[in-house]
Amino acid sequence: MDAVATVATALWAMLPAYVPNNAAVLFGGGRPIDGGRTMGGRRLLGDGKTWRGAAAGWLAGVGAALLLRALRLPAGTALGVGFPAVPLAAAFALPLGAMLGDIGASFLKRRTGRERGAPFPGLDQLDFVVGALLLGVLAAPSWFLDIFTLPVLVVVLVATPILHVVTNAAAYYLRLKDEPW
Ligand code: CTP
Ligand code: MG
Repeated sequence: MDAVATVATALWAMLPAYVPNNAAVLFGGGRPIDGGRTMGGRRLLGDGKTWRGAAAGWLAGVGAALLLRALRLPAGTALGVGFPAVPLAAAFALPLGAMLGDIGASFLKRRTGRERGAPFPGLDQLDFVVGALLLGVLAAPSWFLDIFTLPVLVVVLVATPILHVVTNAAAYYLRLKDEPW
């Protein structure tokens, strides 16, 4: 695979995991998942993790994955890349993993004394990737091993933080998000 194909494959495969965070920012709010519960004097997750945000994020990610499946004719054809269709199991698992990774990160942020919205460089940019990859490999192992070769994984781990920083800065300047991270 050449470099362009590797990047295209990485972004294509991760799209269902990129959509959820953004949808959660757009549609989130309301009742917090932790119901206000605390642990060691600090919130379990905090007000930034809501049921509506998690549900909207997951649904939007599944929607994106189903769209990719339906398109069938891979967008990568022009680049000379053939993308195998996202299996149904992965279509559900990738966005779910992304949302769970984001929730897990908030749990860690609260345990380390960070208030809601405080930055945690590295974790903020990769929590959802780790969650999505973990659930992805569990849900659809053969597809996963086919797609996520070592070079593709490297691109995912390098490109995702860049994309994350750029989209969050954009969301901040568009006043959709309270902090630029
Ligand atoms: N959001 C939500 N439900 C989720 C995830 C996100 O409602 N499961 C919304 C919240 O309005 C949140 C915003 O998206 O404030 C931004 O998400 P994020 O940066 O992940 O949350 P923070 O508010 O920064 O909180 P934390 O410090 O826990 O990450
Ligand atoms: Mg945040």
